[in-house]
Amino acid sequence: MQNNEEKFKKIIAHSKEYGFIFQSSEIYDGLSAVYDYAQNGVELKNNIKNYWWKAMVQMHENIVGIDSAIFMHPTIWKASGHVGAFNDPLIDNKDSKKRYRADVLVEDHMAKIEAKNQKDIDKARERFGESFDEAQFRSTNARILERQQQIDAITKRFYGSLEKNDLADIKALIEELEIACPVSGSRNWTEVRQFNLMFKTQMGSVSEDSNDIYLRPETAQGIFVNYLNVQKTGRMKIPFGIAQIGKAFRNEIVARQFIFRMREFEQMEMQFFVRPGEELQWFESWKQKRLQWHLNLGIGRENYKFHNHEKLAHYANAAADIEFNFPIGFKELEGIHSRTDFDLSAHQEYSGKKLQYFDPELNESYVPYVIETSIGLDRMFLAVLSNSYDEEKLEDGSERVVLHLPANLAPVKAAILPLMKKDGLAEKAREVMNQLKYDFNCQYDEKDAIGKRYRRHDAIGTPYCITIDHETLTENTVTLRDRDSMQQVRVSISELNEIIRKKLVVKFEE
Ligand code: GAP
Repeated sequence: MQNNEEKFKKIIAHSKEYGFIFQSSEIYDGLSAVYDYAQNGVELKNNIKNYWWKAMVQMHENIVGIDSAIFMHPTIWKASGHVGAFNDPLIDNKDSKKRYRADVLVEDHMAKIEAKNQKDIDKARERFGESFDEAQFRSTNARILERQQQIDAITKRFYGSLEKNDLADIKALIEELEIACPVSGSRNWTEVRQFNLMFKTQMGSVSEDSNDIYLRPETAQGIFVNYLNVQKTGRMKIPFGIAQIGKAFRNEIVARQFIFRMREFEQMEMQFFVRPGEELQWFESWKQKRLQWHLNLGIGRENYKFHNHEKLAHYANAAADIEFNFPIGFKELEGIHSRTDFDLSAHQEYSGKKLQYFDPELNESYVPYVIETSIGLDRMFLAVLSNSYDEEKLEDGSERVVLHLPANLAPVKAAILPLMKKDGLAEKAREVMNQLKYDFNCQYDEKDAIGKRYRRHDAIGTPYCITIDHETLTENTVTLRDRDSMQQVRVSISELNEIIRKKLVVKFEE
């Protein structure tokens, strides 16, 4: 197909044309980095949520779900570190007036150096063929080693300065690296400053008694502050987990890239409470389980990469991202973090309430350690959508756009299509619709030629098209067209529910 940027543009256009995603407030020229899910989008999104919830909650006897409020006591965000440290370092270009994250500018610069290395490696691979050993080439080739040293030196200096909050040095680094604004091309930068990403608002009717309150930037804290309530009322024994799906809000600075980085988005998070000292085993186990959840959808392993964090947040003793091959490159889709007892201990301190667990097997009390799995629902939506979007050239020379969505995630499971409206075919098709609609989300469609209707359903990823023709009236059979193979088979109406049900079965391998 076309290059990735073009593919990304097509996916965005397709999302709008086929009722998946609209720009928020479009008739008022839109609101930046905020999107609405349309009639097909909301079905796909709900199916992703159900797939996650089923795998995490229903399939694990020791994981339960909650739905905590978006508004929470403001002290929670002091305890969690978000008031003090949930910042991005920002820099403005004085000529273009564009604002950038300083870390993104520096990382993009390093990515360009790495791209040069990759180019040399690709050339060498071509030259040496089968016998090429990339690891050996990387460790011996002088040019590659020199560039790798540059990357290491930049990483060390940048993250060192960030940790010390030495913003002047970050600006100096950007200048020394001669990083230019991608829009104006100039190096006329402002100072670097920290910008807190939380949205603030007021709670309370009268200004004197109103309190500053935040829109939650992650759902996890709603789980931490409820952990003891859930443990006691659910009689949960460690190890156990609490899962939650909900909205989160971040005032992102660099908010381009469609639904990849939004200001209002949804997270699916699970906190797994374990004995101190056992957290790294659980961390490894959850890394593998979460990757398997993705693979169970039938999306190829080559689309996923683990990125283990070298530099850890102050609360973590291990962290990894599952990166996905988005049209914008391999980027973070999900995070798995070993968060130690940082959050619970902080809430214990700030609230003055004991958050300990009495372990009957050890006969002792402790603050549990936590493994977190956190995936952005919108990013998962984008991953699934971009992986399934395809432009196919057919044997007769025509083209079709098709979404090869995993059947269980498809917004519509079956389209019910009478070949024509007359001769009682429409009435018969309605009967088939009524037989199926209780079990599956189906769509009845009698408008336009049958070929056009097939294309419409290919474009939204409907796994089955069911056509009602004259034979249906006498034989009680229909043609069942498979979205991917476009093969048609004649089946009995009485078999339809079972055939569709089978198609939707998902593996829950771990
Ligand atoms: N509780 C941990 C946490 O929030 P995070 O890495 O900041 O960790 C977790 O976010 C996931 O949420 C990310 O892997 C990503 O999928 C999603 N996410 C984060 N910021 C986002 C944004 N602005 N827009 C869409 N998804 C986002």
